Amino acid sequence: MSTYTYWKKLKQTEIQQHVFAALDQNVNYREQNILGIPASHLDDKVFSQDEAFLKNAPFISTMVQNPNHIGCHTLGHSEPFFAGTQQIEKDVIDICAVDILKAEPDTCDGYIASGGTEANIQAIWIYRNYYQTEMGAQNNEISIICSADSHYSMDKAANLLGIQIHKVALDTAVRSITAHTIKDAISTAKNNGAKYFIVVANMMTTMYGSVDDIDAYTAILAETNSPFKLHVDGAYGGFYFPFSTEHNKLNFANEHVSSVTLDAHKMAQAPYGTGIFLARKGLIAYANTKAGYVEGEDYTLIGSRSGANAVAVWMILVTNGPFGWFEKVYILQKRTEWMCQKLKEHGLKYYRNAYANIITLHAEGVSPEVAHKYGLVPDKHANPSWYKIVIMEHVTLEKLHMLLAEFENAV
Ligand SMILES: Cc1ncc(COP(=O)(O)O)c(C=O)c1O
Repeated sequence: MSTYTYWKKLKQTEIQQHVFAALDQNVNYREQNILGIPASHLDDKVFSQDEAFLKNAPFISTMVQNPNHIGCHTLGHSEPFFAGTQQIEKDVIDICAVDILKAEPDTCDGYIASGGTEANIQAIWIYRNYYQTEMGAQNNEISIICSADSHYSMDKAANLLGIQIHKVALDTAVRSITAHTIKDAISTAKNNGAKYFIVVANMMTTMYGSVDDIDAYTAILAETNSPFKLHVDGAYGGFYFPFSTEHNKLNFANEHVSSVTLDAHKMAQAPYGTGIFLARKGLIAYANTKAGYVEGEDYTLIGSRSGANAVAVWMILVTNGPFGWFEKVYILQKRTEWMCQKLKEHGLKYYRNAYANIITLHAEGVSPEVAHKYGLVPDKHANPSWYKIVIMEHVTLEKLHMLLAEFENAV
């Protein structure tokens, strides 16, 4: 059984005390003379600041106080105005890097990004700048390598950063990259002038929940003498896959992994704006922008961001605790297995990774009306080939049973 360095389950009273103590260490716009920040508490003509209501509501109280977590707080100096809630953000980074993704303590930097898109772009931005600074690389000598099932944020990154992108084809029966298709993508990139590679491995893809074989990537990159930095996109799977299997090489225990994206606003049911970017120490400085007015520089893509998001993620993690989290994933795994069994009995074809809570149905077995009625998401809106079911907290057996009844009626 794993032990946890930072992640503990806390009682509601402890959580409240902790968050209110942190807020006390932030500036108080009402009681202190803070005249130079272009910000304030939320407008009380619009947002209730009734004390009786707020005293038991640490997250809403944080929203009302409105701390700005601009910058990255795991290195150097930070704005002193919001030191209390910045510490909560550092605690979230420690839990995610060390207790979920197996880093050694104090070996990672990170911050709460706007989402998975930003965290992926942040990683690719860092590596592009690294190759430029350390190798004198030109943009057209740098290529992203990722699977054809990767999230479209990789295409955004290539476009924004002016670098190449080459997609690794998949064996579509099992939605897996293969040694052969990785070699093909690298060789096409090299023929296009690429010398330096930014590899993005998926820890559960958006549409299929499939997981890339990271060893296949690293073996072929070594065999073909291709310099690389490796980022893991765990935007979807980061709060799931590490709990559904012990056989996880997409984490910091793997020396080849330099950075990871997690999204708390997906499986962790946090408010939107809670992407998490984590990178080994020594890397984030490649994205440093000299920010005159911000104390401690800014190593992030986003600029101003809400400290309430960090508090929300921390509250979710410590309310559940690590064992509660395992249990949550265990239940979702069981529901997913139940649904797969029923689909088999109905003769419906689907793809599912054994450690994922996404079931992707072949479109031939699903009418557009049923897909629409049950909010099944297609791979593409014009002429879909697949529809996915995502087994979340609210996707109960009762609701799945209703979907199955529709399939039965169709037959
Ligand atoms: C695997 C993966 N990466 C990145 C993203 C982008 O995340 P966001 O929408 O939070 O920017 C998603 C979103 O679905 C995703 O599934």
